[in-house]
Amino acid sequence: MSVPILEVVDLTAAYGRIEVLRGVNLSVPKGAVMALLGPNGAGKSTLVQCIAGAKEHTGGDIHLGGVNVRKAAPEDLARIGLCTVPEGRSVFPNLTVEENLQLMSYAGVPAGAVLETAFSYFPRLHERRKQYAGTMSGGEQQMLAMSRALASDPALLLLDELSMGLAPLIVEELYDTVGRIAESGVSILCIEQFARTALRVSDYAAVMTGGRVVASGEPAEILETMSDVILGGAA
Ligand SMILES: Nc1ncnc2c1ncn2[C@@H]1O[C@H](COP(=O)(O)OP(=O)(O)OP(=O)(O)O)[C@@H](O)[C@H]1O
Ligand SMILES: [Mg+2]
Repeated sequence: MSVPILEVVDLTAAYGRIEVLRGVNLSVPKGAVMALLGPNGAGKSTLVQCIAGAKEHTGGDIHLGGVNVRKAAPEDLARIGLCTVPEGRSVFPNLTVEENLQLMSYAGVPAGAVLETAFSYFPRLHERRKQYAGTMSGGEQQMLAMSRALASDPALLLLDELSMGLAPLIVEELYDTVGRIAESGVSILCIEQFARTALRVSDYAAVMTGGRVVASGEPAEILETMSDVILGGAA
């Protein structure tokens, strides 16, 4: 078996004295899409922040493509192919769509290529390229945030709740695109409350509660055994 693109081993992290990650173990195979599910407060976003180098962990290890990235800064992580779309909308509201994308060319990718990738995945962004990002709909802003993450040609994409505040139909559309991005060879870890939608495009799923991964496996297996936890018993 080849080296996983992401391996998290016994990871712990805290806010002050309150430990919120209590020994997380997670492995994402190269080229796979993994959905990370779980109730509010489980520690999913904290895990993403630790992987992205935005929050320090107190113990354990994170390996990206087999490299231990314990002390790596976010810019080092970007260089080795990690890109994150954090919770909330990570666009510059007072810049146009085009300007938001052009800013990403700092990563060494020519601005033309950044725009071309964005517009091929999301034609809507082309129509709206002169519009201020802050005036676009939530779904369109999320398309822009994803395009910004794609600009640097990631090996692993972390998506933290793409669906936040969006209508179900838009969420479906966004996940269709997640599926297409995965087909291009990008590995993806996506955190999602819309469990069924995320599982539709996922090869694997993991469930987090109380700061630990309590189950992982193939989507069907996870849905069957964990529906109470991940769907609140609603499905
Ligand atoms: N900046 C912070 N300071 C203090 N506590 C925090 C902070 N951020 C998160 N927490 C706490 O850590 C725990 C895990 O939060 P986290 O945001 O990682 O959960 P989550 O699984 O992403 O939840 P959600 O599904 O609601 O996004 C929660 O109890 C939360 O209140
Ligand atoms: Mg969260």
